[in-house]
Amino acid sequence: MRRTIPEIPVHATPVDILATGIKTANGKVSLACSFSLEDVAIINIAHQAGLGLGLFALDTGRLNEETYEVADALVERYGLKIEWYFPRHEEVEQLEREKGLFSFREILDNRHECCHIRKVEPLSRALQGLAGWVTGMRREQSVTRIDLNAIEGDALNGGILKINPLLDWSEEQLLSYTEANRLPKNHLYTQGYRSIGCAPCTRAVQPGEDARAGRWWWENPEHKECGLHRR
Ligand code: ADX
Ligand code: SF4
Repeated sequence: MRRTIPEIPVHATPVDILATGIKTANGKVSLACSFSLEDVAIINIAHQAGLGLGLFALDTGRLNEETYEVADALVERYGLKIEWYFPRHEEVEQLEREKGLFSFREILDNRHECCHIRKVEPLSRALQGLAGWVTGMRREQSVTRIDLNAIEGDALNGGILKINPLLDWSEEQLLSYTEANRLPKNHLYTQGYRSIGCAPCTRAVQPGEDARAGRWWWENPEHKECGLHRR
């Protein structure tokens, strides 16, 4: 069902944005969690503010061990219940049998196919029954996210609310929030990673490189979306 998008004042805090989104969606809201610094910060913000938020994670089958360790640390710290979603096994089996394990590096269509099977289709199942979902996207992350809104209608997913409470946070702000609250942090960040997705499609970045330069590093910046956030 399409929802009315609430007005969000320019200086709204992440708590204001989250609270407004949750209220507008009558509480039927979950955080899409990739266990990034952003997502962990949102969990902490919601926890401290006493905001009820579900949580799901898309296990693509190609995540780093370090990412699962963050998930485990969060369960320990907050007593979270994580709704894990996996890709449909028949589709992964067919993909890997026909095209091998690294088809996504060959051409953009293959990359989209893999992201569709491993992320986009499971996302559509994760969103069933929800009136809104929360993401850790920030405007400064990429050219594809500059015009992000705090709360938007997600046209690709039935017009439900898409809530982006950290949209205006800088990477520096995020890092200091993480340190100040001693939040669980993926060990890959200490190895030069600045944005973490699937293992074979993510690498560390060099000083001076863009934060998302290590994501699908063989592609142009305007292509660096997996389909979860096409707008
Ligand atoms: S991506 O589109 O390039 O992969 P990115 O890694 O920047 O996205 O993450 C942006 C937001 O998308 C995360 O903060 C999270 O809300 C959501 N997200 C990304 N990957 C996943 C995942 N595997 N499971 C759940 N949510 C995810
Ligand atoms: Fe496949 Fe890479 Fe997309 Fe993960 S990020 S789903 S491995 S193409």
